[in-house]
Amino acid sequence: MTDTTSASADFANFVRGLPKAELHMHIEGSLEPELMFELAQRNGITLPYGSVDEIRAAYAFSNLQDFLDIYYQGAGVLITEADFKDLALAYFKRLAADGGTHAEIFFDPQTHTDRGVAFETVMKGLLAGMKEAEETLGVTSKLILCFLRHLSEESAFETLEQAKPWLSNLAGVGLDSSEVGHPPAKFARVLQAARDLGLKIVAHAGEEGPPAYVWEAIDLVKVDRIDHGNRALEDEALTARLVKDGTTLTVCPLSNLKLCGVPSLDVHPLKTMLSLGLKATVNSDDPAYFGGYLLENYLATAGAVGLTREDVVTLAKNSFTGSFLSETEKAERVAKVEAYAAAH
Ligand code: HPA
Ligand code: ZN
Repeated sequence: MTDTTSASADFANFVRGLPKAELHMHIEGSLEPELMFELAQRNGITLPYGSVDEIRAAYAFSNLQDFLDIYYQGAGVLITEADFKDLALAYFKRLAADGGTHAEIFFDPQTHTDRGVAFETVMKGLLAGMKEAEETLGVTSKLILCFLRHLSEESAFETLEQAKPWLSNLAGVGLDSSEVGHPPAKFARVLQAARDLGLKIVAHAGEEGPPAYVWEAIDLVKVDRIDHGNRALEDEALTARLVKDGTTLTVCPLSNLKLCGVPSLDVHPLKTMLSLGLKATVNSDDPAYFGGYLLENYLATAGAVGLTREDVVTLAKNSFTGSFLSETEKAERVAKVEAYAAAH
């Protein structure tokens, strides 16, 4: 019999081959130090680091804000359409190597428009990368525009206005950046305006913020999924509600570890989430900063909390059922997961 305990090489190969979607990945967070240097050179930008090793050494964070400060600085090398295309393609190659077949990627337009990079430049570059990834790697993808919650509601409305010519290229909008002090309620009106335009709504909630922010996200903003959601477990009634509604949680284990949301991976709540019946998924968040892409998130967590083969199949299925693919596409993708599991 094949050994499918989480520590074995067979298990790793099984998870690598398992068709999976990634639903929580900030494209700016996939900027590897090597590409950061290359783009800085291409665009005549001087980085405050002398080497790739120096950049990596700076990636020691004690909370979300520590990380965000460095992440926004890194994104400053992205100037041209080609930069955004190269960034996206580099990510899709890593995803394909990990057995990822679909991604719904976040981007932060305000990080770029505030530096004088046109909204159109960002869109054209990312869309070109997505198209090439589908053609050459067979990876499908969708785009989710995130509003930076440390900025104003007015700025979010201006961004939504800029997005209007691109609606057919956007699956949804989300909320990211500094969570505490910027509850979902601050953006309830702009998110409703986005919904009226036919866009799906997601929000980071319960990463560092309290369960109250997750309640707001579901009851006031009526999100289609919750990004992270870890702190929802502190509230039994909230957990029960998320189970009852079948709300997808896009959980990011290595991110939680690097941003000190958990002291070590062996106490990560992912396994508990699954046993409670929550629709958890595994994602990399900002893989260039947090030390692992999609597969590494599955394997490191599997090793730490003892995910079984059945657990990872459930996680892969959740990644498709929780996606913004059509119902027909979801059924096809889930059938592929089942066929793979039956054959291996
Ligand atoms: N949390 C909030 N905002 C972010 C993150 C994150 O993990 N990554 C990029 N923007
Ligand atoms: Zn995130």
